[in-house]
Amino acid sequence: MIVEVLLSTLDPAGQPNFAPMGVMWGEDELIVKPFRATRTYANLVATGYAVANVTDDALAFVDTALAHLALPHFPAETVPGVVFAGVCYWRELAVIGTEGGPERAKLRCRVTGRGWRRDFVGFNRARGAVLEAAILATRLHLLAPSDVHRALVQYQAIVLKTGDEPERVALARVQEHVRCWYAATDH
Ligand SMILES: Cc1cc2nc3c(=O)[nH]c(=O)nc-3n(C[C@H](O)[C@H](O)[C@H](O)COP(=O)(O)O)c2cc1C
Repeated sequence: MIVEVLLSTLDPAGQPNFAPMGVMWGEDELIVKPFRATRTYANLVATGYAVANVTDDALAFVDTALAHLALPHFPAETVPGVVFAGVCYWRELAVIGTEGGPERAKLRCRVTGRGWRRDFVGFNRARGAVLEAAILATRLHLLAPSDVHRALVQYQAIVLKTGDEPERVALARVQEHVRCWYAATDH
């Protein structure tokens, strides 16, 4: 099963980076599939460590998907790395194998440590919709504008019905990003 996490990595200078990544979940091993153009991939290859943060904070997913942003954090215990302060629970990871294609890598990671801070609140449709909207926003170059707009209208209805203020803010940020992207690319 693929679980959407905020993956934190360090660059060679020790600066944290956070990015949403869908990871293939396992108890002892996780598989991360970053595109080779991402900072996450560069950091994983350079340092060999990461932390998979499981969180219900949809706004953090949007902010880190759309911008290079340092989130509040504290040190991991078993690897050089950081844990997102808004985490529910996490896995500390060491890369043990690298494969994949020219565009996207497939990194096998061993779980070296884990921790828990608070309960995951449970399924929420608005948070799911915000995640879908954030994914859409990272793939605008691949999608037809009419499909993007149609999807965003659907996500907005779900967010208004089942979300709170943070989910509404998160979706508004995605909508603004999409608007600016199309304005800049003449769509
Ligand atoms: C829910 C979600 C899941 C994502 N999963 C992946 C993934 O598995 N691999 C990937 O390369 N990008 C994925 N992305 C897109 C990256 O998060 C996005 O390109 C990000 O800007 C990469 O940041 P970085 O360059 O700091 O690593 C995902 C985005 C979202 C919102």
